[in-house]
Amino acid sequence: MAKPKVLVTRRWPAAVEAQLSEAFDAVLNTGDKPLTEDELRDAMTSYDAVLPTVTDKISAKAFEIAKPQARILANYGVGYSHIDMHGAAGHGMTVTNTPDVLSECTADIAMTLLLMVARRAGEGERELRAGAWTGWRPTHLVGTKVSGKTLGIVGFGRIGQEMARRAHHGFGMKIVVQNRSRVSPDTLARYNATQVDSLEDLMPQCDFVSLHCPGGAANRHLINTRMLNLMKPDAFLINTARGEVIDELALSRALWFETIGGAALDVFDGEPRINPELMDCDNLVMLPHLGSATREAREAMGFRVLDNLTDFFAGREPRDRVM
Ligand code: DGY
Repeated sequence: MAKPKVLVTRRWPAAVEAQLSEAFDAVLNTGDKPLTEDELRDAMTSYDAVLPTVTDKISAKAFEIAKPQARILANYGVGYSHIDMHGAAGHGMTVTNTPDVLSECTADIAMTLLLMVARRAGEGERELRAGAWTGWRPTHLVGTKVSGKTLGIVGFGRIGQEMARRAHHGFGMKIVVQNRSRVSPDTLARYNATQVDSLEDLMPQCDFVSLHCPGGAANRHLINTRMLNLMKPDAFLINTARGEVIDELALSRALWFETIGGAALDVFDGEPRINPELMDCDNLVMLPHLGSATREAREAMGFRVLDNLTDFFAGREPRDRVM
């Protein structure tokens, strides 16, 4: 029997590409150039599976086809707000993702950002590289102590919990959680965390707020001027979730007028384009979407996609089905 024809939309770790090519009739994107919307729509009609990632905007337009050949979108990544789920549902397609395997590494980057912005590490590095450092002095780049402070976690899934583990066990931080469903008492007890009912409850009591909720239309601009105004004037906002969760214009104003202490972002609305308003904010740390960027996590993500595809084409239930 012919092997299913699968399209890998970006370059993946070599070990995964090799196994994928053995198991399937895999077409690899050797140039690693992001596909256009038209190319993605065409892929739906010429492959049995499409293996997209966050840079592939699979919008409603991509599903405006009579009948796709692709029966599964096996996403490389845990977040899938770049896929129009109504469109996929309309054609009865299966969608899978890659949870768990990147949670620790993404929480590491969230903690890195938290420490960098609190201790003004980004500002220090920029100053030093610009040749502007004049030496140690008691008042130079004085930041904020992290240990013992209160951390608000928005979205208490796997990554949010890994962040809580680091912050509570490593830094003795007090954890406050806001999540769309009730978190079990056992899970909260693990991090000595308390759950609040709303963001309005969470924002005013935290020294740091870290976002770990999904992206997509439902959470677009969840953090807006009103929410930023609820934060303490010296509090910090961290985002490793999705760029669209924050109204970046509102954030740039809050940073510019110092109504909050600072922010640290790994994700951006419309990335890789960066809102010019953000560029001039000194109290902002920015990283280029590095959350899952470790050799271990990126390989594990690929093998998880491979498992999902193998199960799907063997007629078994893929373990990471999200639709
Ligand atoms: C994820 O897994 O969601 C990462 O942000 C990359 O897509």
